Amino acid sequence: MALAVAPRVEVTVVEYRHTPVLLEPALLWLRPPPGGTVVDCTAGGGGHTRAIATKVGPQGRVVAIDRDADAVATARAALADLGERISFVHGDFRHLADILADLGIEKVDGVLMDLGPSAYQLETAERGFSYQADGPLDMRMDRRIPTTAADLVNGLDQRELERIIRDYGEERWASRIAGFIVQARARRPLETTGQLVEVIKAAIPAAARRQGPHPARRTFQALRIAVNDELGALEAGLQAAIAALLPGGRVCVISFHSLEDRLVKQTFLAYGRGEPDPRQAEAGNGGERPRLRILTRKPVRPSDAEVLHNPRARSARLRAAERTG
Ligand SMILES: C[S@@+](CC[C@H](N)C(=O)[O-])C[C@H]1O[C@@H](n2cnc3c(N)ncnc32)[C@H](O)[C@@H]1O
Repeated sequence: MALAVAPRVEVTVVEYRHTPVLLEPALLWLRPPPGGTVVDCTAGGGGHTRAIATKVGPQGRVVAIDRDADAVATARAALADLGERISFVHGDFRHLADILADLGIEKVDGVLMDLGPSAYQLETAERGFSYQADGPLDMRMDRRIPTTAADLVNGLDQRELERIIRDYGEERWASRIAGFIVQARARRPLETTGQLVEVIKAAIPAAARRQGPHPARRTFQALRIAVNDELGALEAGLQAAIAALLPGGRVCVISFHSLEDRLVKQTFLAYGRGEPDPRQAEAGNGGERPRLRILTRKPVRPSDAEVLHNPRARSARLRAAERTG
């Protein structure tokens, strides 16, 4: 488990302003107690981390995790004034149990997840997340992992590409896009975001392209989810977060698309009903799990004013739950 920035990853400390999404509701539902211990699983530019660290105060402790080494370096620099109360960790929140054990922390008062890519990742062409700026077809949040978006686009068979684009992008033109990708890469491998955008545009009929968001948005989302195994990380991370909560501790998740939100909702419901861990139960180990009380029956959405000020908040949904005693 790497708690420090891996030596081979070149780190960039960036000056960027990521306006934290749903900040007030996140603080309201997370309710970080003075002197408490709270984990921010997705530190990004440190916006939520700063607010949480301020609430827990100098006697409190915040663990700020990010799988992007640039984010960890940036948050560390931006939050230097808050001193020792924040521990920064370059890692994947799916390994939360190990991360807390390495820090000598047993239980926590709260866990926040603010999912998806950061403004910095989306706006930095070299990271390859953007369909609006040309860059290498990368999309790895953690550049220590071996597989890039280019590896998937050039290496997967057509059926698997179609499945990813359909399931993770909820893209109705998945079959055509996968077919066009396979034809294009037979001529030469697709290496840049710009090349992929051109292939997607050619695959989607002109009439369909004229409506709705950018034609490449769904395919880029799908590839990003696949490259970073975002749903696998969320499933494992949520379970680890709930297991780490003290009685009365709270977990709060901000998601940005329906696949994430559905997973959060279903996980909270299963823990709310006191269902045993299906894998443990199947193995005959009982599988008893902590019980949750759901705090937000419906997801909390941003106000019109927040969306006007920060269009990135448009699709955000927040759900929160509390571990019962
Ligand atoms: C939306 S940004 C967070 C922004 C942050 N709340 C702020 O106020 O600046 C999401 C961050 O989560 C990180 N991330 C996504 N999945 C992760 C995972 N499984 N483990 C750790 N970090 C993750 C991304 O690298 C990104 O920096």
